[in-house]
Amino acid sequence: MRLKDRVVIVTGGAKGIGRAYCLGVAAQGARVVVADVADPKGTVKDVEARGAQALGVECDVSRESDTQRLATETLARFGRIDVLVNNAALYGTLKRRPFMEIPVEEWDRVMAVNLKSLFLCARAVFPTMKTQGKGKIINIASSTFFKGVADYIHYTTSKGGVVGFTRSLARELGPHGIRVNAIAPGFTLSGDNEQNISEERKQANIDARMIRRAQVPEDLVGTLVYLASDDSDFMSGQTLLVDGGGSVH
Ligand SMILES: NC(=O)c1ccc[n+]([C@@H]2O[C@H](COP(=O)([O-])OP(=O)(O)OC[C@H]3O[C@@H](n4cnc5c(N)ncnc54)[C@H](O)[C@@H]3O)[C@@H](O)[C@H]2O)c1
Repeated sequence: MRLKDRVVIVTGGAKGIGRAYCLGVAAQGARVVVADVADPKGTVKDVEARGAQALGVECDVSRESDTQRLATETLARFGRIDVLVNNAALYGTLKRRPFMEIPVEEWDRVMAVNLKSLFLCARAVFPTMKTQGKGKIINIASSTFFKGVADYIHYTTSKGGVVGFTRSLARELGPHGIRVNAIAPGFTLSGDNEQNISEERKQANIDARMIRRAQVPEDLVGTLVYLASDDSDFMSGQTLLVDGGGSVH
């Protein structure tokens, strides 16, 4: 029980990898807040079925008022905020296309959901973590940033921003005892994204890895628990690539 009674907010926790994070931290004794623009009830039920406490908050993380409400509802139910996992993103449903074909509005929306949301959510939890004298913020980047991926430039660029945001915020918040780190997953079979990529591309991802198999959400949970727990207390500003050795930096 490495996260006993810790209060962990997971944005984008309704499905995909975010759902796996919710179940993973619950298994370590955490109380979980499932924050998503989609209905979070399914994940809440799954967490509760494992004997842990959970709260669902329906919210759009790109809207400041929603992120403030997320923090307020979390405090009303659990009284503290120990960990924020900035996992929500426009990803699985995002079409791959050449940069000249990406509508400007889509570029803006990707930046709002994948990047501005980190700024807003961090601002929403900061006063509480500052008062507590400790907190962990874990941002979800992507191996696409380290590789450079064609036909996905808005997504890849937003995830590069996640790495920069992580480093800068870690410098600002370190004096308050708040650690800020990131995880960069490789291509992970997570539901919606499986229709969005060709079989050849899936296989090419596997072939490029040191560990030659498909990645699944559970492959990321150990690293998330580590970054959320006291075991990583002397780490901040780092981005851990968890992609079976597909990229190195
Ligand atoms: N699956 C992969 O191959 C992969 C690889 C690298 C990084 N990632 C990153 O991991 C994270 C999870 O990936 P996934 O595959 O589970 O993605 P996904 O698209 O399946 O799920 C994203 C979740 O975020 C939620 N969401 C979207 N917009 C939101 C908003 N405005 N407000 C609140 N919630 C919102 C969705 O409803 C969904 O539950 C994302 O940050 C993604 O970029 C995924």
